[in-house]
This record gives sequence, structure tokens and C-alpha cells, in this order.
Amino acid sequence: MAEPKCDIGFIGVGVMGKNLILNLADNGYRIAAFDLDHQKLEQLLKQDTQEHPKAARIVACRSYTELLACLTPPHLIILSVPAGKAVDDVCYKLIDAGVAADDIIVDMGNSLWTDTVSREKKFESKFIFFSTAVSGGEVGARFGPSLMPSGDPYAWTRIKPIWQAISAKVDPVTGQPIERYEPGNPVTEGEPCAAYIGPSGSGHYVKMVHNGIEYADMQLICEAYQVMRDILHMPASEIATVFQQWNQGPLHSYLIEISGQVLATKDSETGLPLVDVIMDKAGQKGTGLWTAVSSLQIGSPAPTIAEAVYARAISALKSERVKAATTLQGPTENIISKTEKQKIIQSLHDALYCAKICVYAQGFNLMKMAAKEYGWTLNFAEIAKIWRAGCIIRAVFLQSIVHAFQRDDELENLLLDPFFAKQISQYQQNWRKSVANATLAGIPVPALSSALSYYDSYRTAVLPANLLQGQRDFFGAHTFERTDKAKGKQFHVEWSHPDRPMVKIK
Ligand code: 6PG
Repeated sequence: MAEPKCDIGFIGVGVMGKNLILNLADNGYRIAAFDLDHQKLEQLLKQDTQEHPKAARIVACRSYTELLACLTPPHLIILSVPAGKAVDDVCYKLIDAGVAADDIIVDMGNSLWTDTVSREKKFESKFIFFSTAVSGGEVGARFGPSLMPSGDPYAWTRIKPIWQAISAKVDPVTGQPIERYEPGNPVTEGEPCAAYIGPSGSGHYVKMVHNGIEYADMQLICEAYQVMRDILHMPASEIATVFQQWNQGPLHSYLIEISGQVLATKDSETGLPLVDVIMDKAGQKGTGLWTAVSSLQIGSPAPTIAEAVYARAISALKSERVKAATTLQGPTENIISKTEKQKIIQSLHDALYCAKICVYAQGFNLMKMAAKEYGWTLNFAEIAKIWRAGCIIRAVFLQSIVHAFQRDDELENLLLDPFFAKQISQYQQNWRKSVANATLAGIPVPALSSALSYYDSYRTAVLPANLLQGQRDFFGAHTFERTDKAKGKQFHVEWSHPDRPMVKIK
């Protein structure tokens, strides 16, 4: 008996793949699925029968050829395989199985954006290589992720209705996520969190920056936790309550919410707060690092994102830190009174809020500089819109960013938006106090303090780079511009004879 015709082929039934397939099935699509691990496919079929008892929507294929035979040409095939070599391997297997030039292959993994650009070129004559970056973890993939597609515009016209169906949705009036986590009953109303980002690679670049922001956001929350834990000596359950309260206000976000939940969870073995038995060594898969590297390469400052990557790296030096803790001295402990405690918590809240604004300013500026560098036209209001639901950095705050870019789509820096400028000027004193208190108590706050330095640097008309240029010219004749001469004109001084006439280079 011939296999039923499917709408979409899907390769890779890992955690993300399985959930994306079930999400597609919820939305009425019939999927031909393939994975090297046939057991995963069996489990998927079982889940499909349970969740869609009236009409199973998934066909398990035993080979690439069988998968192609299940689809109506031109084929649409989605890949959810580990980033890197696996993506190329699968593409070559599909070529061997007979994909055609008008077939569309979509990479939905966490690929490095430059790999996406080269793949589009490399496979140009064989098929259309399209990419879609996905955020939202497994729950997002299952019930509505944020999707950042980019590549061939023709492919987008075919993919658009599918992505709009499976993506997270936002209430158009409030800008808040419409959440429903019921198999077989997808959210069909609201604004979809799926928007075409631009040419090949741009979607994965935007997702990379999303992850850089995610790293910084997480680190900021962790620093607030450490201040409460180590300066205020609050137990995890009390800190959980603070996060739950913060989640009612302008900091309302998925990351604050889950941080509260992590802190409130008890270890089933010891009965202790689970967080107290989790080893303080952070892992990373690389997307935060890619963001920091790109910001350095492009010259768009994103110090808080970089600090968040470094914070994970220093956390990984656990045994060295344990040794150093016994020899390296910090300040003597401060005694905090009860009245101070409430003030410190309020200050931390405000510090987190201000620093968060700076992190987003860094992320959006990086995308802006990258767009200039790589010739993309990015729509920042649209990017902020699709981050309002489904993704890991979803937050009430994103709505204000949407408004900022709707007010001015050429905005030089988020800090210059009148709303954000006012917010920071209102709350900055508490931010400064938080950084100062932590520093005096010897508690590291690399993200909170680097965000503050970013803010202070950005608002400083005259930085000490004049001296730096002097140093460079002194030892390397690297030249400098003068404040009293035309822009771009370069000068050099013979520093051993500063009385000699200055040399004008060009
Ligand atoms: C998302 C996440 C997702 C993944 C991170 C984890 O948007 O859904 O960002 O992509 O959880 O890549 O990254 P680390 O392992 O580096 O923390």
C-alpha cells in the first residue's frame, strides 16, 4: 500500500525535533519523519496516536528515499539536527536520495550564521537552502516558539503560513503572550511570533544575539541572587518570593519566573533547596561566545554579554576558586540592618531593570552594526515583536522596545529613546548603590557593573581615549586627530622633541 502523501518531511527527532513535529501535527500538517534512531520514531508515533486519536498525522520513514517518496514535489524538508557537520551530512544524503533544485530544505538547528551563508551558496544548484532559527526550548517548540527565518524570499512565501501557524502568538492589544499548552488545541488567534528577517544568515545572526542577551539576562538575575544570598543571607525560598514579586512589575519575564521556580524547588533526596545542591559550574554551547566574538569583530560594544560569557568561564574554574577562597582576602563583612535589607532589595530590583535596558541596547546596536556590515535591512520593531512570546527572553519589557523602534526606526541607541532614557535617569541611583554595595562587600557583579560602565561611557562626551591616542602615537607613531582641526586629519608628534612642529600625516 502506498504511503499517504505528507506535506512536510522532517529529519531529526531529538527533543526539539519531536516537539516541532507534534506542533506541526497539531496545526493539521502531515509529517514524514526520519531519524537514524528508529526507537525515537516509534515513540513519536505513539505520542501522535495518543494526541491525535482521530487521525494520526505522522509517518515514520526508514530512509531518506522513503521520506522523499512520502512527499509531494516540490519537497519541503525540515532539519532539526545538531549544528555543524551533521547539517552538511544530511544535506548530502538528501542529494543522494534525489532532491531537486526547487526543493526547499530548512535548517532549524542552532547553526552558526556564517555556516548558513556558505550552505546557501554551496547547495544553490542542488536545492534551496533556507534557515529558521528557533527559540523557546522544548515547551516552545511544542506549543509555539519564536521563529527567525531568513534566506530565499520564494521559499519564505511557501513556508510563511506554516511558521505563522506553529509559532507563539501575542495579544495584539496588550502585546502579551497568549499561552495555551494543550496538545491538539493550538493557539490560532493573535499576532504570530514569526517574521522574515532578511537574506541568508540574518535570521541565525538575530537568534545568536537573542542568545547573547539571554546569557546577560540570566547572569544579571544570578548576580541579584548572589547579593541576596551572600550579603543579605537570605535562604533560597525567601529569594524565590522576591523574584515572584518582581515578576509582577516591569521585570516580568520568563527568566525571572523560572528563576523563582528554581529557587522554590526542594531536592527530593535531601529536602534542601535544590539550588543549594546544584554545583556552581555553568555550561555553555557557544552562542553567547559567538555573540561576544561578533561584537568584538564588528566593534559594536556588548560588554555585558561578554561578561556573561566570562562569568560562565570563571564559574567553570571550580577547583581553582575553592583553593583561592582559602588564601585570597576580601573585605571584612558588612553587617546589614533589617531596614537596610528592604532598601537593598529595592535597589537590586532597579539595578536589574537599568542593566537590562543596557543589555538590550547592546544587543540591538550589535544587530544594527551587523546589518550595515553585511548589507541587511533589519526591522528592529519586528524583531522585538517576535521576541515578545515563545522565546527564552520573552518579557513584558519587549513591548516598550517595540514602541521605541516604532517611534523611531532609525534610533541610534535604545538608551536615547525618551522612555528608556527617563527610566534610567529615575532608577540609576539605586543601580549605582547596588554595584557599590556589592563591590564593598566583595561580591562579584560583572554584568551589573559592566552595564553601568557601558551607560556611563555612552553618556560621557570626553573619554580618556585622548591619552590613549597619545600613548599609541608615543610608542608606535600611530597618529591622532586634533580637537581643533578638521575631522579625519591625522597628526604625529616627535615625543622626545615636542617643541618641533607637529607632522600632519594626511
Ligand atoms: C532558546 C535557547 C536555546 C538553548 C541555548 C542554551 O532560545 O531556545 O537559547 O537555543 O537553550 O542555546 O545555550 P547554552 O547551553 O549555551 O546555555
